[in-house]
Amino acid sequence: MGCKFLSPIWKTPGDSKMTLSNLIVDDLDAGVFRVHRTAMTSQEILDLEWKQIFEKCWLYIGHESELHGPGDYRRRTIAGRPLILIRNNQGEIKAFYNTCTHRGALICRADEGKAKVFQCFYHAWTFDNNGALIGVPDEAGYGTGFDKHEMGLKPVERFSSYRGFCFVSFNPEVEDLVSYLGPATEYLDLIVDQSEAGMRVVAGSNKYAIKANWKLLAENSVDSYHAVPTHETYFQYLADVGGVLGPRGSDSNGRARSLGNGHAVDEAPAPYGRPIALWHPMFGEEAKAEIEQTRARLVSLYGEERAKRMSETIRLFLIFPNLVVHDIVSITIRQFWPVSPGEMEVTAWELAPGEEAGKVLGLRLDNFLTFLGPGGLATPDDVEALESCQIGYQADAVEWSDVSRGMHREPQATDEVQTRAFWRKWLAMMEGHSDYRDPEVVRADQPPAPATR
Ligand code: FES
Ligand SMILES: [Fe+2]
Repeated sequence: MGCKFLSPIWKTPGDSKMTLSNLIVDDLDAGVFRVHRTAMTSQEILDLEWKQIFEKCWLYIGHESELHGPGDYRRRTIAGRPLILIRNNQGEIKAFYNTCTHRGALICRADEGKAKVFQCFYHAWTFDNNGALIGVPDEAGYGTGFDKHEMGLKPVERFSSYRGFCFVSFNPEVEDLVSYLGPATEYLDLIVDQSEAGMRVVAGSNKYAIKANWKLLAENSVDSYHAVPTHETYFQYLADVGGVLGPRGSDSNGRARSLGNGHAVDEAPAPYGRPIALWHPMFGEEAKAEIEQTRARLVSLYGEERAKRMSETIRLFLIFPNLVVHDIVSITIRQFWPVSPGEMEVTAWELAPGEEAGKVLGLRLDNFLTFLGPGGLATPDDVEALESCQIGYQADAVEWSDVSRGMHREPQATDEVQTRAFWRKWLAMMEGHSDYRDPEVVRADQPPAPATR
């Protein structure tokens, strides 16, 4: 693609100028990457995203720890489809469409719970927690062509999990999950390995809406460039209470990587303490022994270098298209869905080591609420920034957003290689290309981000 500012592009269906590739200017030699802002405002683009992206990718649905025992379930809406994630009596986790095979009513009408059976409230057909239809009132009313065995709940086309993170896909042909995740597994491992008892999602979640295009949160969630200016209040607060360990937002700290397949990470030295496992005076003396024990356990399990990386670096990472994991002070799982071109809904959960309790768990949950919570010290800043961008797009004479930062050098934490990773995969999927390649993928065998401050 040339570095020309073409006049768009996305007009009306059937318009001969309408091409998706003209929405992105990607010129590696010139160090220029731009995104046409209609990608954030067009209903036609969103319609195509549902079809080309959300119907084809692996999509996060929940965490195994949310389903402790047989019959535990979570109701989830994934890409607009009502689903149930359930652990059956055999202990297996399955994902079903949440619709009665009789005439369509939702068979599960609570967000979470435990059930041996689901009885549809409309005509009382009953399904077991493995999806089989086991009860039909007045079954004699059906003829010989009616076979209960064919009328069980429909499983989602594909279900798979990686180390507790469960995904579904509506695409029967989708590649296997581990191949899809690629080097992103390294970053999930860095989190999952923090606990020998297993990581668990703490009960409860945050839900909020943002009046901005969903892709803006994919960009923002792995963007360190905005951290210091946008979150000035938070960093000033940390400085006031002596909570900052080192510089933040400097180009010389950390690095960003495109992991391929649209996944990306920004990894940097922690500028503050972490329950895993970097004690800071702000956490109080009573938390010190437990945090230091955790650090010693990580060293004995994984060696000094990996334990240091797990403890002293933070990770913001994005699994394409809409799953973000923030391993900072707390570990937040965040997922977001478009409602319209200019609005999204966000859900966030907190992930904690299974063995963590008391004071240290309290510190983690406090950070989940007070930093990344919808009323916390960071998220309202981000919401304001994203909504401001969306309003700015109404000035449609200004057609392009610039995402070129760091394109000419080894990616650093405040660069935008993460954002370009997302957009390149987005364009490939929107165009239906299977030969996707991100020229800025950093090889997986490169050394990790420095953990020195
Ligand atoms: S719609 Fe469920 S039993 Fe009729
Ligand atoms: Fe932010």
